[in-house]
Amino acid sequence: MKKLVGPFTQILPLSGLPLKGAIADDHLQIILNAGVLVEGGVIVKVGDFEELRKVNGEAEIEEITGQQVLLPGFADCHTHLCFAGDRSKDYALRIAGKSYLEIAKSGGGIWDSVTQTRQASKNELAELLLQRIGRHAKDGVTTIEIKSGYGLKIEEEIKQLCAIQLAAASSTVDLITTCLAAHILPKDFNGPASEYLEYVLNNLLPKIKKDNLASRVDIFIEESAFNVSNATCYLQVAKQMGFDVTVHADQFTTGGSEVAINVGAVSADHLEASGEKEIKLIAASNTVAVALPGASIGLGMDFAPARKLLNAGASLAIASDWNPGSAPMGDLLMQASVLSAYEKLTTAEVFAGLTFRAAKALNLHDRGLLENGKLADFQSYPCGDYREILYHQGKLKPGKVWKKGKEIL
Ligand code: NIG
Ligand code: FE
Repeated sequence: MKKLVGPFTQILPLSGLPLKGAIADDHLQIILNAGVLVEGGVIVKVGDFEELRKVNGEAEIEEITGQQVLLPGFADCHTHLCFAGDRSKDYALRIAGKSYLEIAKSGGGIWDSVTQTRQASKNELAELLLQRIGRHAKDGVTTIEIKSGYGLKIEEEIKQLCAIQLAAASSTVDLITTCLAAHILPKDFNGPASEYLEYVLNNLLPKIKKDNLASRVDIFIEESAFNVSNATCYLQVAKQMGFDVTVHADQFTTGGSEVAINVGAVSADHLEASGEKEIKLIAASNTVAVALPGASIGLGMDFAPARKLLNAGASLAIASDWNPGSAPMGDLLMQASVLSAYEKLTTAEVFAGLTFRAAKALNLHDRGLLENGKLADFQSYPCGDYREILYHQGKLKPGKVWKKGKEIL
């Protein structure tokens, strides 16, 4: 049965915009008094509401009242939502002047979240996940990537991935799972980083593949985590096994983005430390640059050079990095709005980075645009002009959210 949703004051389908490079706002297509025709969870047509109504007399009408602007649902292509506990003590130390790396060295940091997450059961983790997913869904996020990486041994990584699978069974939005067993070298692993990565490659990734627990593999390349040569070998093997690969790259020091490009990663995420050389390499590649303003805000550090990346021709996505340490806020739209103000991004670039470019970072080509054949994932904002959305810096929330054509909020 067909359903016609509308009329919306404005629909921004984001169609016809490039996957890479800068986008001026006058390239945004804006359809006035518009409707979306949906069938079987997929968009059939977007256009003038009255015309669609005339031609589709048999369609059920879902009537929209008042001023409403419709956008595609957001894809948050980088989160660490599967964790227990919190790191508020780390945060207090950080705002008082201690660095992320100093805190990690003195017993806080990622290892603290590993300890807290290991103490939680699979069901408890799934419960916590569903609360966070629910919050994100209300904020218009209809696809969420979620990493493991707070288990850091076989059975604990599997527990995290199974918790995500369990949450996915009752989640209203799509979850894309990534194995981040290579987050840091675990303190209780007896051996060097290269041996730990071997252990993960031989004992964890085959299991994940067999049970379809994740489709992607990530690694943190940094002085405090894994080096360029170990990471390159690890990602090459993971790719041969059939995983999409992605990298936590250039967060504090460079090196990671070059690995990402050399191995053909779908995305290189963070990039706060990327310089001219890295920007050029990323722009010339098919790897999506993912800015994580939530981590910059959480750490009080520079933003990724989003403007320069776009000007050089890169594809730029924006994600929340929601995690208990560097990015505890988890408000994607607020973070994207702040990034745009500091980096001088157009509204079109921000919307593209939260939708179809973020979907590309996840290697998903069926969403992020409101056009024929794409998933009917969309969200409406109670305003009369799309520019009000970033103007309110994240405080204007969607009034309604649809996943595969069904209202979830
Ligand atoms: O993307 N940089 C490494 N990993 C996460 C932080 C995780 C944590 O602090 O718990 C990040 O910022
Ligand atoms: Fe991260």
